[in-house]
Amino acid sequence: HTPWPGLIAAYRDRLAIGPDWTPITLREGGTPLLPAQRLSELTGCEVHIKVEGLNPTGSFKDRGMTMAVTDALARGQRAVLCASTGNTSASAAAYAAKAGMTCAVLIPQGKIAMGKLAQALMHGAKIIQVEGNFDDCLELARKTTAEFPTIGLVNSVNPVRIDGQKTAAFEICDALGDAPDVHVLPVGNAGNITAYWRGYGEYYADGLTTRRPRMLGVQAAGAAPLVHGAPVKNPDTIATAIRIGSPASWNGAMAAKEESGGAFRAATDDEILEAYRLLASTEGVFVEPASAASIAGLIAASRDGWLDRGLTVVCTVTGNGLKDSDTALLGMTEVQPIPVDPVAVASALELA
Ligand code: F0G
Repeated sequence: HTPWPGLIAAYRDRLAIGPDWTPITLREGGTPLLPAQRLSELTGCEVHIKVEGLNPTGSFKDRGMTMAVTDALARGQRAVLCASTGNTSASAAAYAAKAGMTCAVLIPQGKIAMGKLAQALMHGAKIIQVEGNFDDCLELARKTTAEFPTIGLVNSVNPVRIDGQKTAAFEICDALGDAPDVHVLPVGNAGNITAYWRGYGEYYADGLTTRRPRMLGVQAAGAAPLVHGAPVKNPDTIATAIRIGSPASWNGAMAAKEESGGAFRAATDDEILEAYRLLASTEGVFVEPASAASIAGLIAASRDGWLDRGLTVVCTVTGNGLKDSDTALLGMTEVQPIPVDPVAVASALELA
């Protein structure tokens, strides 16, 4: 059994990688596609979850970042820059460290999960907090790299990022033997939905699948520009990873929805937290809140009849729950210690 070589090696002929380039890889991709029994019972569908939190830095961003950093290095750039709600910065920092490059990250003040900040810090990135939200950070990153072209921009506005991320769709088709009927995923800056739609399109065009899925993009209700059809000025949600008011890949997201006969929908923070807890407590998969938006959307779409029973559905869960333990511990009351005594353990379990 040969080990998974990383996605550039696995799908090199489908990626924009020069023949003499050396991939910068942490062996990202090759993540589990997990049958979800409870969600299948709940919806009457055959539900699978694509567990992207098991990538090297704990999110799907590694798929794009192996490409972006490989590309930046091959072009002779020595530094990379990104705006981020946290995961992109953690990923960029790790791949830059591996490549021996400098990394700087622009993050919105006070609005990123602590685990992600810790990652960027540990990988040696220069962390710059900006007095503004993600949309402000992205605009600043674009302007900076336009003015200083020796710095590579590694946000998903960089097309090679999207190219790397499309490999998740390939893996799903390879695992299922065809494309699913419906694909559900959380949407923030909209790079990932654009990437999946491209991936499914390429496999279909090459005759490797018989169909393409309907794409269901789920946004947080307080940050749902694609649902409303207009940018949101002051986006707000507990799902900080998708706290974005003006998605850069707006057109890609709209094309995915329209060409696939799909939809966008909004999930409230309460629905997201409920799905977050359900997934952890019944499927054994701990994701971060933004990722649970796809599960919240799946459940709501099943309840209101958008999703027929009997379909094959894949839900991408984008990031690992360990990144944001603060949200997991919300509302937890202080635990009283017990004496070192089995009777005390049993009585704490209400078994004595
Ligand atoms: N889920 C997670 C965990 C994310 O970190 C992101 C985006 C998304 C979903 C949405 O993906 O932007 O391609 O629509 N995080 C970016 C970041 C913005 O900076 O880490 P998208």
